[in-house]
Amino acid sequence: MKTVCSLQKMRDLSREVRRSGRTLGFVPTMGALHEGHLSLVRQSVAACDFTVVSIFVNPAQFGENEDLAVYPEDLENDRQKLLSAGADILFLPAAADIYPPGFKTHVSVSGITGQLCGKSRPGFFRGVTTVVLKLFHLVEPDTAFFGEKDRQQLEVVKTLVRDLNLDVTIASGPIVREADGLAMSSRNRYLSATERASALCLSQALSAARKRVDAGEGSADNLRREMRGIIEMEKFAEVDYISVCDPRSFEELEEVGREALIALAVKIGGTRLIDNCIVGRK
Ligand code: PAF
Repeated sequence: MKTVCSLQKMRDLSREVRRSGRTLGFVPTMGALHEGHLSLVRQSVAACDFTVVSIFVNPAQFGENEDLAVYPEDLENDRQKLLSAGADILFLPAAADIYPPGFKTHVSVSGITGQLCGKSRPGFFRGVTTVVLKLFHLVEPDTAFFGEKDRQQLEVVKTLVRDLNLDVTIASGPIVREADGLAMSSRNRYLSATERASALCLSQALSAARKRVDAGEGSADNLRREMRGIIEMEKFAEVDYISVCDPRSFEELEEVGREALIALAVKIGGTRLIDNCIVGRK
């Protein structure tokens, strides 16, 4: 596995891969890799001839009071994990190259970025779409892989690709969970042992809601109320949002129909965690 830091070298290498007729898969990450990331890398390795993984902690998607300065870094372990997963290139661009002095251009998707994470993290999706578009231009992948834990991000990236006619297929991978149900996240590293135990309230609330829907519950308000009750029993937990919404427009629903997204963002101590699942009534 090669490590590439230079933007021009990355572009040259990906063009060489494509010229040789091989397909290129791309997994953009911010590092501190876990099984969720690695499952996407394995998906890319299985589907494409060549796999590029980027690690770039994108300053443009962090708000002023967020965790940019302390975002976990674990480069040596990440490198080993990527090697075992079969990645061909680790792309490690520098912030000064991605955002050189005088940088003035951003792209944003409207309509579906005002709800959920877009509401509680203003500027987050603008930062994501700007860096993803730049990375796509540098790597020129045939297929790019995103995790379903960030379901709104996945939909926003699909919309970016569709609206700007980008020549890349967006593929997704399911949420990977710890044995006790906690969705894997780089931010789980921030949790103390007691917070780690409290963090289970997210997956527990989702499971309870899913069971209620399977038993015939259709009222989105009843589901929100039940989930809030489960989460608020945890002393470290503070709800950011509890959403029962349309999985593509992210508009809140009154009734759960054939397909609904249940999405949660909860602060556990100082750590903001997200989780979601798709439910539907038969
Ligand atoms: O999901 C992430 O890790 C980031 O938002 C991404 C897609 C790598 C863009 O910085």
